[in-house]
Amino acid sequence: MSISVVILAAGKGSRMKSATPKVLHEISGKPMLFHAIDAARQISDDITVVLFHQAERIRKQVESHYTNIHFHIQDAQKYPGTGGAMKGVETKNERTLILNGDMPLITKDSLLALSTGDAEINMSVINLENPGGYGRVIIENGKVKEIIEEKDCSETELQTTTVNAGIYAVSTAVLKRYIPLLDNNNAQKEYYLTDIVKMAVDEGKTVHPVYVKEEEFKGVNSKFDLCVAEEIMQRRIKRFWMHAGVTMRLPETIYIDSRATFEGECILENGVSIQGSSHIIASHIKTHSIIEDSHIENSDVGPMARIRPQSTLKESHIGNFVEVKKSMLTGVKAGHLAYIGDATIDEGTNIGAGMITCNYDGQKKHQTNIGKNVFIGSDTQIIAPVTIEDEVIIAAGTTVNQNIEKGSLAISRIQMKTVKDFFYKFFNKDA
Ligand code: UD1
Ligand code: MG
Repeated sequence: MSISVVILAAGKGSRMKSATPKVLHEISGKPMLFHAIDAARQISDDITVVLFHQAERIRKQVESHYTNIHFHIQDAQKYPGTGGAMKGVETKNERTLILNGDMPLITKDSLLALSTGDAEINMSVINLENPGGYGRVIIENGKVKEIIEEKDCSETELQTTTVNAGIYAVSTAVLKRYIPLLDNNNAQKEYYLTDIVKMAVDEGKTVHPVYVKEEEFKGVNSKFDLCVAEEIMQRRIKRFWMHAGVTMRLPETIYIDSRATFEGECILENGVSIQGSSHIIASHIKTHSIIEDSHIENSDVGPMARIRPQSTLKESHIGNFVEVKKSMLTGVKAGHLAYIGDATIDEGTNIGAGMITCNYDGQKKHQTNIGKNVFIGSDTQIIAPVTIEDEVIIAAGTTVNQNIEKGSLAISRIQMKTVKDFFYKFFNKDA
């Protein structure tokens, strides 16, 4: 690979109206910046992220997910603007691709299209009916002459509908030559990266326009833009998985995290939410169920069930209003209304309605182990830590607070009694 990538992410993002830095806002479960990094990593082995506002916070989050990403802190007070952001950035390859950190919809294919060819600069352009907000691109005979920022445009220039989409692939030598020559004699008193275009053209270099898809180059500047980008991303993710064989009922009501994966024939009913790095194999997830960071294999879940992080379900049936957390279930049936937390439950075991693992004592979480073919009656509390061996019957209403040996019955109830004709005495009625 002979292209380096620089991702500009030093801007303040004030239009987001948020304490969270703009590029850390998530789209389909991943910060915007990570989508850009993921696309960049597919074409380059030398990636630099330029930061300034909340630099440490962003850097920490990037470093917790990726190795080998370089950072450059912009001197944004002295050199504001996209050109200022490039001052002092060192890239090791012959060409450098510059993109914005707030473009989460960009794909590898578009980055590759921009990276090829022998022009000194390839730049992304779009034709827009409404070009407001973008830099206008002046093109003559198929070659770019100049980019003029909206605030610096004359009335005639404002009519140009060809705009700068904001991604450039530049010969690294050209960058090295022109970045130090940028000035801030413009309406915004900023150092514009876009000015290198005119400088290069004036010295006889070629700037080639690459027409790109508007959808991919949408910049996210506000929470409204964020939701528009999320919708596009969701449509892409669902289209991909439907092509891979996942059946979806009313897909527009389904949410799927960008990190989730499916295998085999899966069915997702309406209102389902698949979050985190969930992995689902040959399973049926019914209406309004939520799966978070879990592994589900040959199982059916829901309607209205919640499988919380670090759960593994295999060959199991989970019915309505069942919550499972950090548990491993193999060949288990839990048809209705149960809480299963920090538990391991083995084959053939049936969980009655209203069973609760009491896994938390107010200070610590404790583990429950339940063996094979255990029959657990309704409305039972299992106070952890506890081990229930194979082939045990637990009577309805029991509070389990000690280990149970293989083959036993466990029952804890007070003796029931009946009082004859009590109703009639109590209400002063005749029997
Ligand atoms: C820029 C382009 C404009 C183009 C538009 C496309 C310039 C001068 N203008 O305008 O021609 O149509 O993108 O979206 O480049 N950033 C920094 N440091 C800074 C300022 C910005 O790193 O000092 C980063 C931002 O975090 C952002 C990116 O650069 O990721 C673009 O900045 P932004 O202010 O959004 O650029 P525009 O004014 O929209
Ligand atoms: Mg700006």
